[in-house]
Amino acid sequence: MRGRGSQPSLQGMLQLPLLEALADHGGRARPRDLYDGLAERVGLDPAARQEVREYENQTTKVFDQQVRWARQTAVSEGLIAGERGVWELTDLGRGKLTRVERGKIVLVYSLDDGLAFLAHAEEAAGAIEPDSLSLIMTSPPYPVVRRDYGRFGLAEWLSWMSGLVGMWKDLLRDDGTLAINLMDVHVPGSPMLSPYVERFTLDAIDRHGMHLAGRMPWHSPTKLASLEWAVKRRVSLKNSVEHVILLSKTPNPSWDTRRLPSEPYADAEGARRRARSAGAAGRRPGGYHMDDAAFAAAGDGAIPSNLLVSGGVGGGGTYARRCREAGLSLHPARFPEALPRRVILLSTEPGQTVYDPMAGSNTTGKVALDLGRRFISSDPVVDYVAGSAFRFDQRSDFRMHADLSRIAV
Ligand SMILES: C[S@@+](CC[C@H](N)C(=O)[O-])C[C@H]1O[C@@H](n2cnc3c(N)ncnc32)[C@H](O)[C@@H]1O
Repeated sequence: MRGRGSQPSLQGMLQLPLLEALADHGGRARPRDLYDGLAERVGLDPAARQEVREYENQTTKVFDQQVRWARQTAVSEGLIAGERGVWELTDLGRGKLTRVERGKIVLVYSLDDGLAFLAHAEEAAGAIEPDSLSLIMTSPPYPVVRRDYGRFGLAEWLSWMSGLVGMWKDLLRDDGTLAINLMDVHVPGSPMLSPYVERFTLDAIDRHGMHLAGRMPWHSPTKLASLEWAVKRRVSLKNSVEHVILLSKTPNPSWDTRRLPSEPYADAEGARRRARSAGAAGRRPGGYHMDDAAFAAAGDGAIPSNLLVSGGVGGGGTYARRCREAGLSLHPARFPEALPRRVILLSTEPGQTVYDPMAGSNTTGKVALDLGRRFISSDPVVDYVAGSAFRFDQRSDFRMHADLSRIAV
């Protein structure tokens, strides 16, 4: 899961993931069936997961205790009911996870250069003008592979995303880019990885005629290892890289690496020495002759690499504080601002429009606006769209268009 970082309080942060975990279990579960999945969902450090505390001659896992407290608070707020041994989602609890009904699209807030909708991606696509977007950048919900919990599996996820790629292609300008952030998942019950990222990419190319413009591996040094395979059983490496697949509508996307911040040159003197000591008058293995001029600085900085290194999470400060004050849960799977920033700079000009169809806390919209681009965002979860408004509502051009407490779902 993405979007970890220092959070205001573990207990507050646990409420929405706890409700989601219960919903995944069909609305009822025993606490012991929830702890591990929940720890993974909120990106808890494995060491913190194992942390124990002695209390009145009893040893308790600190995290399990926190979850029980979060459940206690949720019980007092009427979100969870049930006995000590079985926890149950109430109607109010389900309401917290409320999604807008299918077929409906609601404009929730706007700015001079931004529009935020409450809608499923399928409906939102129908409301956007064809050939108008320079970039669609999103991080979809991951395929949940445990079919027994009633959420969709890989095959359904792939067919859903394929349909969306078809719709999104029509919305893109001819020089537009589609950037999709995906994380590896394991084959159920196995340390093997699912090749769904490859299947998604091939489908976008083969069925929809998209072009593979690039890949941007995102290395997150703070990313956590799989609890089951890397921590407990030690048969997998920690997978600290997520994927950003960059697809373009035509072979000529409007990319320009000069819009990226300049990066320091690598050690040019060292490279020159290595080339000389390689013999054959600096001839490289490929046969190219590298003379001293090849190492001269051109003045623009190093050629930007496709590797993005960023830990942490976007929009912590004000967004987190305002959500907390309003009693809304923070979005549990935000990506860091560095991710949309690099893609937006690479693929769009100021004034162009960026769309995030699975916007969550609307990190993409915030960064687009910071960079002088326009944004459109949509997400079907009422609380997420409501929370995302806190990123923008201090601006003088912010306008609220819908009372989310009255949205019929
Ligand atoms: C990984 S999160 C995106 C987080 C976002 N990048 C951020 O920084 O806050 C995926 C989002 O997809 C949304 N989602 C789930 N089903 C959807 C659907 N049918 N259409 C659009 N969005 C959906 C979820 O509500 C969730 O907010």
